[in-house]
Amino acid sequence: AAATQNLSYERHTAELTNCIIAFLSPILPTEEEYRIKEATRRQLERLAGKVSPGAKLLAFGSMANGFALRNSDMDLCCLIGKAADGSTPPFSASALVEELGQLIREETDFNVMPLPKARIPIIKISRPPTAELPYEISCDIGFENRLALENTRLLLSYAMVDPPRLRTLVLFLKVWTKRRKLNSPYTGTLSSYGYTLLALFFLTHVKRPAVLPNLQRIPPARTLSQEEVLLNGHNIYFYDDVATLRQEWASQNTENVGELLIDFFRYFSKEFTYSRDVISLRTEGGLMSKDNETWTAELCIEDPFQLGYNVSRTVTKDGLYTIRGEFMRAARILTSKADHVARALAELCE
Ligand code: CTP
Ligand code: MG
Repeated sequence: AAATQNLSYERHTAELTNCIIAFLSPILPTEEEYRIKEATRRQLERLAGKVSPGAKLLAFGSMANGFALRNSDMDLCCLIGKAADGSTPPFSASALVEELGQLIREETDFNVMPLPKARIPIIKISRPPTAELPYEISCDIGFENRLALENTRLLLSYAMVDPPRLRTLVLFLKVWTKRRKLNSPYTGTLSSYGYTLLALFFLTHVKRPAVLPNLQRIPPARTLSQEEVLLNGHNIYFYDDVATLRQEWASQNTENVGELLIDFFRYFSKEFTYSRDVISLRTEGGLMSKDNETWTAELCIEDPFQLGYNVSRTVTKDGLYTIRGEFMRAARILTSKADHVARALAELCE
């Protein structure tokens, strides 16, 4: 009887996996969307060069880490022009926001909103879709946010180690959290970046055998100097030789995405000890204990590079209660509606 049950569960999760892939495929960005966004990036980079000669405008976040859905926002980071000796000259992000914001307003048809006084000064720009350019552009430009470029590269490297499983899981979580309104840091829930870290923690540290290796714990191929691994005092090392990893990292874990997704929801509804533990990807076991100083929030997820920084600091008590309730609902829907998997997925994302 147990064997029959296992077989039917396997069949169920295989079908769920296919349904998830079919569900995602029409909402992934098209080639054309990538082209238009890249053209926009270049246009803005040219303007940034007028304000700070030699400036670069680099994409980070979902447009650069492999976890983009159709019409996602663009996150851009402006690296200001270098001095003759290669160093970064002193700058004021607020002044740059004012100046570049002004120039973009004069020379393009974007709506521009400079936020020079924000904790992290940024320029918000947007443009509604038109007949010729049927894509809404909505973009945040920040300055010298090099840690975000590095954590984007970390996520991209993970995405490339096991693309089918990690990417599918994260993309599904993103759609689901957006549709269920669980993805708004400004109103007490968690950012996409936070959910992505939850998925990475789950695949690296919870699943046995692990689906992913801990890239921050694989030793480098050669000894690296302090300058090479330190950025503003943060250790940003991770093993980034993806070509080698793809040849040598063979996960013993054979679970499909459907199975992993159900297990993810189950784990975060029942097993994870929110009141005691801090998720910390960089550590050996992936967990630290809460204390009464740094780690006191409801949900604690340490940034992979910025130690002591809680990525989930936006999550309120109510927010976490809602999120956990949604994890439970998801686990229930995905395990009980075994006869109509596609319908269950649609209901899940209502
Ligand atoms: N980021 C960060 N620290 C945070 C939140 C975000 O460093 N607390 C940086 C990360 O580099 C992340 C990027 O900002 O990749 C974008 O974050 P977010 O918008 O949450 O993720 P996306 O993958 O861009 O998701 P979406 O498509 O929903 O915009
Ligand atoms: Mg984003």
